[in-house]
Amino acid sequence: MSKSVIYLENVKRYYVVGDFCVKALDGVSLNINRGEFTSIMGPSGSGKSTMMNLIGCLDTATSGLIKIDGESTKGMNETELAYIRNKKVGFVFQQFNLLGRKTALSNVETPLLYAGISPKRRKEMAMDALEIVGLKDRMKHKPTELSGGQKQRVAIARAIVTDPSIILADEPTGALDTKTGGQIMELFESLNLQGRTVVFVTHDVKLGNMCNRQIHLRDGKIVEEY
Ligand SMILES: Nc1ncnc2c1ncn2[C@@H]1O[C@H](COP(=O)(O)OP(=O)(O)OP(=O)(O)O)[C@@H](O)[C@H]1O
Ligand SMILES: [Mg+2]
Repeated sequence: MSKSVIYLENVKRYYVVGDFCVKALDGVSLNINRGEFTSIMGPSGSGKSTMMNLIGCLDTATSGLIKIDGESTKGMNETELAYIRNKKVGFVFQQFNLLGRKTALSNVETPLLYAGISPKRRKEMAMDALEIVGLKDRMKHKPTELSGGQKQRVAIARAIVTDPSIILADEPTGALDTKTGGQIMELFESLNLQGRTVVFVTHDVKLGNMCNRQIHLRDGKIVEEY
């Protein structure tokens, strides 16, 4: 049975800058079920990151309804949003966002610190996640001792270590060359085949076509969906 993990109903996100109002997201409705592999595409400024940040509870909507795993985030305070973020969402960013002074292993352990898991268990879980992304042998390396593709693998391990309901990736291949980007995409594909729900933003039509679903945004609205 399909189950909704991401539900947006007439979601708007307006930014007021001076006396100008930017309609970054202008009435988006969307449902994504568990196990789907979705790409978000659209020109620069069309609202892709805005939508990802709302789904990931990094930001709140101006109006509309957002449900994550069936739970409405409307009216939640920062603590409640942080809880959803930690429990339900794994983020992967274009620039990896790894802690530079920490090893791959401790970077992957980071989300578990907030989840209150024992140090021993944290290490086991982080090692398992690094194994999934094929980087267990680099666990003692710091980000500067890793290639771009390896850094992104560490970031993906960090995103999956809590076993979140949703993996959100905002242009995860944007800082990588085509070949490395393709390998990262294959990793997302295998994570999806293992049952994980993946939503990612890309400008690359070829990568977008690897998904079973595509959502195209323009001027804050969904203009095409298949
Ligand atoms: N904090 C902000 N304050 C004001 N306007 C913003 C803010 N963040 C985004 N915007 C505006 O909202 C619109 C959508 O931005 P968003 O970052 O979602 O685009 P995007 O589709 O991710 O673009 P890109 O492909 O370049 O990453 C843009 O017009 C942008 O200028
Ligand atoms: Mg963006």
